[in-house]
Amino acid sequence: MAKTLISYYSKSGNTKKMAECIAEGIKPTEGMEVILKKVEDTVIEDMLNSDVIIFGCPTYFGVMTAEVKELMDKSVKYFGKLNGKIGGAFTSSGAIGGGNETTILSIIQGFLIHGMIIQGVQKGNHYGPVSIGAPNEAVKEECVRYGKMLGDLCVKILK
Ligand SMILES: Cc1cc2nc3c(=O)[nH]c(=O)nc-3n(C[C@H](O)[C@H](O)[C@H](O)COP(=O)(O)O)c2cc1C
Repeated sequence: MAKTLISYYSKSGNTKKMAECIAEGIKPTEGMEVILKKVEDTVIEDMLNSDVIIFGCPTYFGVMTAEVKELMDKSVKYFGKLNGKIGGAFTSSGAIGGGNETTILSIIQGFLIHGMIIQGVQKGNHYGPVSIGAPNEAVKEECVRYGKMLGDLCVKILK
């Protein structure tokens, strides 16, 4: 059984809705267990025990929030052990061009340093799902597709 961890921080619920849609997209993947957790409830062992690790948070000053960065920093304990896992990221921001892409990249940067595998999105938000405020129907669908894409990648890699 492969495992996906979706860990998110959300103060006013926008990122949480995105996290739920990504979980919805990945759940139908055969043989995949999905763990959806607030970042505050996530421990680094959840990362160690997962094949796919997806982080999401609001855009705060163009980067990941302190809560997500704290978890990322703690994960140094398992540096070398997350190598080859699949990563992904998503964010909600207040404005278009408010730093949402740099927020996603700040998360992905950490995952790349761990040696993780990142798949870009050819059609849609290229670095990962982005919402301006609460996700509308189009963003929700994009989140579902993103979950499916990473689930399918995991199946391909674990084959
Ligand atoms: C401390 C703080 C910093 C923020 N910085 C940005 C920013 O740099 N760019 C932006 O577009 N929105 C910024 N926002 C707005 C949030 O990213 C936005 O409201 C988001 O949708 C909140 O997501 P949530 O409902 O999951 O908490 C900031 C909000 C706060 C509270």
